Order: sequence, then structure tokens, then C-alpha cells
Amino acid sequence: MKIAVLAGDGIGPEIVAEGVKILKVVAERCDLDLTLTDARIGGAAYDATGHPLPPETLALCRDSDAILLGAVGGPKYDTIEPPDLRPERGALLPLRKHLGLFANLRPAILSPALAGASSLRADLVEKGLDLLVVRELTGGLYFGQPKSNDGTRAVDTCVYTVPEITRIAQVAFQAARKRGKRLCSVDKANVLETSRLWRATVHEVAKEYGDVEVTDMLVDNCAMQLVRDPRQFDVIVTENLFGDILSDEAAMLTGSLGMLPSASLGQGTFGLYEPCHGSAPDIAGRGIANPLATILSVAMLLRYSLQREDAAAAVEAAVAGALEQGLRTADIAAPGEPSVGTMAMGDAVAALLAPDDDLPRD
Ligand code: IPM
Ligand code: MG
Repeated sequence: MKIAVLAGDGIGPEIVAEGVKILKVVAERCDLDLTLTDARIGGAAYDATGHPLPPETLALCRDSDAILLGAVGGPKYDTIEPPDLRPERGALLPLRKHLGLFANLRPAILSPALAGASSLRADLVEKGLDLLVVRELTGGLYFGQPKSNDGTRAVDTCVYTVPEITRIAQVAFQAARKRGKRLCSVDKANVLETSRLWRATVHEVAKEYGDVEVTDMLVDNCAMQLVRDPRQFDVIVTENLFGDILSDEAAMLTGSLGMLPSASLGQGTFGLYEPCHGSAPDIAGRGIANPLATILSVAMLLRYSLQREDAAAAVEAAVAGALEQGLRTADIAAPGEPSVGTMAMGDAVAALLAPDDDLPRD
């Protein structure tokens, strides 16, 4: 299996180093044959080559079975002209689009060990949280044409087609079927035409999934319900921009954006795996970033692209184990609680995952 490793900018290299560490340990433990190849992306690629997504990086990604990505962007690159050469618009979005990665899975899971780190009152989350945001990733306002800005008037266009909505709805229904069998489709159908089409199409797809209970919710209400009673949700499916916003909100309920992994999938097993947080330039280079979102993204890579549920579950169990041992990076430490750095957290997860030579191996 070939894996492209794109560390990117800011804290990207620090957290990806821990993700790679875990991949190597799990490969040993679970007998995986992995070839990891690094490539430049984002501001780092722009500095080196003049483009945030150089052709050789795209070619490597196309030739791989999965991509592990850190983060792109930073203040230094925010003013690059034209904007299509900025890391977010010139690298991340085209990568998702070129590779057909329309389905973005963002599981927000609050382990009981971290209940105190949630921004919600303890009584709302003491039983933990486990919800999945399925975000449409290659349509809507992010990509719709025309787009323009002449300094006095700016235009973004929201477009969705029935096939685009159908395929993401199918991913969401299938995910719900494997979980709590409840799907909440989020839109703004009281105002937007794209949302009206979204709602009608989701209900059309629902006919194939009689075992899944489907409800509709307006996005403003959903934002409110997530902080009022997040345990009412199982799977949320929504369009690109709403999913961007709601997944950050869901992440915070789990204690920190530093805990939220993601998988971006197309029709097959190929996928792009990245933490949902950004490049965090304010803490870059200090060795204090939380690597767990990246390590949990590695678990998703093992699950969806390599189809190794055993290896994925082992990584998730090791992360839970490190948290149970009381290890906390600064973002999830309670006030006054000691914290560990990026590498120490990665090492702790790796140690829990390392092959146990005392056990018989088959
Ligand atoms: C995310 C990020 C990106 C997005 C940015 C960096 C373009 O916020 O993956 O959620 O909006 O999709
Ligand atoms: Mg986002």
C-alpha cells in the first residue's frame, strides 16, 4: 500500500511526524506492507516551487492508495495574489476536487476520560458523546461558479445537483445504518433553493433505507441543538459550508479541535485523511500541538483505505489508553493540570500499540 505524506505548514510537520510514527508501529504490529512517500503542499510548496500544489505532489497522490495530510496555510500566505495560489484555495480545495473526494466524515467522539475538557456542562456530556458529521466536500459555495470580487461587489455561487446530493446522502445513510440508525439532514430550506433540492433528494434516497430514521433540521437550529443537547444526534449530513461550521462546533464539544480527525472519500477506498484543525501558526514549532486528531485520522486511513478494522481499532484503543493514563496536551489539560508535548503524546500512543513480544504471534 502506498501512502502519500503531506505535512504542509504550521504545526503540520510536527503532528504528521507523530501520525507517521503510529503508522510505522501499527504496520509492524498488524503486518501491513506500507510505503510512505513525502511531498510538499501548501505554503511550504509555494515557497519551494511557486505553487501550493505542485504537479509532482498531485501525481504522487494519484498514484497512492491514501494520503495523510497535516495542515496548510498561515498568515504569511494569506495575501498571495492571485488568491488561487493561496494554500487553502490553491492546494487543499483542488486536491479534494481533483481526487473526487466528495464525502467528508468527521466523527466527534468524547471519551469519558475527557468529559471535563468539553465546553459543555458536565451533566450534558457525562455519558460521553459520539456523533458523526458527514459533510459534502466538493460542491456548494466553495466551488460554485461564478466567483468574483472587483473590490466593490463580490459574488460566490451555491450550486448543487441531484447526483451530488444523492451520492453524499447514500454515504450518510450507509454510515447511519452501521451506527445508531438515525440521520439528521441539515439545510436552510426555508430560504435557499439548493437546500430545497437537498431536502427533496435526501428524502428520495431515504426510500432505499427504510431502517434508518431520517429527520430534517434547519442549520441555525442545528447549531443551537448541538450545544443544547448533542446526544440527540447520531449522524448529521449536510452541505459543504454548513458542514465546515457544524463540524468545528461538534469538535469543541469533545474538548478540543485537536481531537477531531477526518476522512475524505470518493467512490472507492482511496481517501485523504487529515485533522480538522488548521495549521495553528500561533503554536507552530513549539512542540505543544495535540497530535491525536492526526493519529485518529491514521486510524480512519487504516479503516477506510486499507480496510483493516483491526489496525484501526488498535490505534483508537491506544489513544484511549494514553488519555486514561492521564496524558494531556495543553489544549485538553484542565486549568492547572500538567501537560505533555506533541512527541510525548505520540510516544505514549506508540508504546501502547507496540507489538507485545510476550504474546504468541501468528
Ligand atoms: C476544513 C478547513 C478548510 C475548509 C479550509 C482550510 C479551507 O476549515 O477542512 O474544515 O473550509 O474546508
Ligand atoms: Mg473547517
